[in-house]
Amino acid sequence: MEEKRAQYIVFDGMDGSGKGTQIALLQEKFGDDVVFTREPGGPPIAEIMRGALRDHPDAKNSTPFFHFLGFWAAREEAQEKLVVPTLNTGKHVFSDRGDSSTYAFQLYGEQKHELLGLFIELRNQVFYAKGRHRPDYYIVFDLSAEDARERALRDAARDQNHFDERDLEYYERVRQGFNAFAIDHPVIFIDASRTVEEVHAAVLEALASVGIRT
Ligand code: TYD
Repeated sequence: MEEKRAQYIVFDGMDGSGKGTQIALLQEKFGDDVVFTREPGGPPIAEIMRGALRDHPDAKNSTPFFHFLGFWAAREEAQEKLVVPTLNTGKHVFSDRGDSSTYAFQLYGEQKHELLGLFIELRNQVFYAKGRHRPDYYIVFDLSAEDARERALRDAARDQNHFDERDLEYYERVRQGFNAFAIDHPVIFIDASRTVEEVHAAVLEALASVGIRT
C-alpha cells in the first residue's frame, strides 16, 4: 500500500500484555523514522507528571478522578509539544498508551463510568481543537485477564508500579474497557497470547494495513 501522511498510532493493552517488548522491537526496526513517546509522558513536564501519577508513593492513595484528570493534563501537554509538531514534520508518532488507557483503566478498571461525558468532552478539546490530531489507530495487545495478570506479576525484572497490584476482576474490567472503546474508535486487536515473534509479525502486518511502510 502507498505510504500515507504521518500517522499517530497508539499501542495499548493490559499490563502484562507484552506491549513493552513489542514497542522495543518497533524501536529497533523503525529507529529515527518514527518518534516514539509514552503516556503519561513525552515532553519534560508530562514526564514529571508521569513521576507523580505512576511512581510517587502517594499516588496509590489518590482518587481515580485525580488520575483521570492527571492523565488528560499530561496528554494535553504531549499533544501540543510533541505529537502535533512531530506530525507536522511528516514523521509518524508511535505512543506507548493513550486515551484508550484512561477509558480502560479509569472508566472500566476503576468503575468510574460516570466520567464518560467528561472523557468525551476532554477528547474533543485535546484531539479535535484546531490544528490538533487524534490517534489514527489504536493497536491493542489482547490477552485473557488471567494470562495478563500472571505475566505482569511473574516478570520480576519488570519495573512495577502501583497500577500493577490489581486483582483478577480488575484485569477483566480493563479488558472489557478496551473492547468497549473499540466499538467507536479505530482499534486493531492483536492476539498477544502468541510468541514474541508471531506478535511482532502481526503488528507489522497491522501497520502495513493502515499504510505504514514496514
Ligand atoms: P506503564 O509504564 O505504561 O505500564 P506498563 O509498564 O505496564 O506498560 O505505566 C503506566 C501505568 O499507568 C499503567 O499501569 C496504566 C496506567 N495508566 C492509566 O491508568 N491510565 C492512563 O490514561 C494511562 C496513560 C496509564
